[in-house]
Amino acid sequence: MSDRKNTTFSSKVGLIMAAAGSAVGLGNIWKFPYIAGENGGGAFLVVYLLCVLLFGMPLLMTEFMIGKRSGKSAYGAFHALSGNNRWQWLSWLCMLTAFVIMGFYFVVTGWCFNYLVEAVTNALGGLSAQELNAHFDTIQSSNIRMIGFGILPVLLTAGVLWFDVNTGIERLSKVLMPLLLILMLLMAGVVLMMDGSSAGMRFFFRFDFAQFTPRVVMEAMGQCFFSLSIGMGALITYGAYMPKGQNVIATSVQVIVLDTIVALLAGVIIFPAVFAFGFDPAEGPELVFVVLPAIFEKMTLPWLSSVLFFALLCIAAITSTISLMEVVVAFICEATAGKKHPLNRRQAVLITSVLVIALLVTCVFVPEVFNYSDLVSACVMMPLGALGMAVFVGWRLHKIGKKSVQPNEKWIKRWARMFYLFVLRFIVPLAILLIVLNGLGVL
Ligand code: PHE
Repeated sequence: MSDRKNTTFSSKVGLIMAAAGSAVGLGNIWKFPYIAGENGGGAFLVVYLLCVLLFGMPLLMTEFMIGKRSGKSAYGAFHALSGNNRWQWLSWLCMLTAFVIMGFYFVVTGWCFNYLVEAVTNALGGLSAQELNAHFDTIQSSNIRMIGFGILPVLLTAGVLWFDVNTGIERLSKVLMPLLLILMLLMAGVVLMMDGSSAGMRFFFRFDFAQFTPRVVMEAMGQCFFSLSIGMGALITYGAYMPKGQNVIATSVQVIVLDTIVALLAGVIIFPAVFAFGFDPAEGPELVFVVLPAIFEKMTLPWLSSVLFFALLCIAAITSTISLMEVVVAFICEATAGKKHPLNRRQAVLITSVLVIALLVTCVFVPEVFNYSDLVSACVMMPLGALGMAVFVGWRLHKIGKKSVQPNEKWIKRWARMFYLFVLRFIVPLAILLIVLNGLGVL
């Protein structure tokens, strides 16, 4: 199988769907509502949206550009653009970050599949909130179950990557992403028709100045990186598959809009339901797994709602794991190309899968690794990767930035280019420093 033959998405929509598939994931549906719930709802939402506009957008464009202009994956992109090896550490950081995220991401995706199976077989039916809480603990204490359900998405992801990018990733994303949106709209409709849902909407959409704290700002910034898949090469890799003539700015805007819509819809589904049934929005990571099934029990169509919800959680997770694994697969293919033992795509998929399963097993048996990888990837590695890329383009290769910002109007062109460079050079590094210090507990 030729690795070069099919390494471009066949359409612009394909790339947008795949990149949105990467961005939209557990970060939107599992993490966003519980972090927003813990950080005052509306206050978090406002800061999050500001972060997305201020540095999510320029960083997303930057990553796409690095990939598109170099035509290389995270392995070769920095070398191709700078012509030297001084930035190679960034390539390795991207690959390492992908692995660290995959360790815990596959564990949580395994929980989603576990709950989907239980929703389909109605195993959760009739359980009280306390029983559901105990059930979540039981799942976490059964290593075999966690490994089994964790390996399932690894195999599914590897199955998609087994094919060329436009046969596997592109085709699947074009089906799954619209399906995900339809399912979410359906669920939001069901929830909004419930009595008492307005309190949840108020919590989510009302900006209460008293809730506005430095911690909220930090959490929102970290969530912005994680949710948009910024700083670990996924978007560089997809950028390299961008069809000729695709506009980086327009594509970035579309991906951001889709990612934000899904996060908002997740909040619109979860908070009204939480409030309507008197649960605590600051429940934490269990919010989706304990509170929601309890809520589904009280709804008119409990089986259908829970099957729909966990199905969409699994869909969102899989399109993200695909992009995570693709970073490593493309990296391996490119790093070994032209060497004594070049590896083709399928060999790279096999090697990556074995390594990921080993990591998954480690995460399950050593809970510290699980907790540690979540914290280290979101609060240290992704911000550092993004910082490296911002400095690389903003200070080293700002010419790339200049050429890429090309709106039609002249004054906008100048204004946009200057703003873009200013953000990349100053705002992004400063913001990242704050996130990392916060993540390390210094602030
Ligand atoms: N953005 C994904 C989410 O929201 C997580 C992710 C991070 C995926 C990095 C790929 C790369 O769940």
